[in-house]
Amino acid sequence: MTYLICPSILAADFTRLGQEINNVLSAGADMIHFDVMDNHYVPNLSIGPLVLASMREQKLNCKVDVHLMVKPVDRLVEDFAGYKPDFISIHPETTEHLHKTLAAIREHGVRPGIVFNPATPIDLLDEVIDMVDLVLIMSVNPGFGGQKFIPSSIGKLSKARKKIERSGRDIRLQIDGGISADNIAQVATAGADTFVAGSAIFKSGDYKATIDKMREALAGV
Ligand code: DX5
Ligand code: ZN
Repeated sequence: MTYLICPSILAADFTRLGQEINNVLSAGADMIHFDVMDNHYVPNLSIGPLVLASMREQKLNCKVDVHLMVKPVDRLVEDFAGYKPDFISIHPETTEHLHKTLAAIREHGVRPGIVFNPATPIDLLDEVIDMVDLVLIMSVNPGFGGQKFIPSSIGKLSKARKKIERSGRDIRLQIDGGISADNIAQVATAGADTFVAGSAIFKSGDYKATIDKMREALAGV
């Protein structure tokens, strides 16, 4: 199992974003998690495609997964796809036609992801499992960093893992919200292989020590 650690730049110092990204990458991060919030679907406003454009201009050619928390979502899929992220993930609640939006992400040459809020039934995955390369289980309600992990996400992860195994497809199972070195082993045991962590990394004094601690915890799974 290859585990991917994905720092969420929502918790970074935006006045030094390029430096922050370089720092987490040299500390061992695998992929940058890019949270897009619109003050409509979620009650917070964050960053848009211009920030990814700047990252690419500055030759930050790292892996990026874009987590879209915006409604309507289709226009922004197009805008982000142009800057070649590895994944674009969408919430089913943000599109009238989930199947069409997931297909559009793929047509733009990006790997599609679907996101499940704490109260979104996981069985919806059955309908689109052939179309997605990433399943993201939210372990907090979307909108803010620094929230407390919701324990019922553990059961949801296990259910998602079973569905992924049954499909036989190469799909990453990502967890997002309240993840730290203290609970990363628990979510990995439940089936997660891709871990978003915002505050736990960026609010720590030493990014490398924190990421190393996460990897040590994962090594024991
Ligand atoms: C919440 C975002 C998360 C958030 C995670 O809506 O999707 O990615 O930044 O932050 P932490 O790790 O601080 O819970
Ligand atoms: Zn996120």
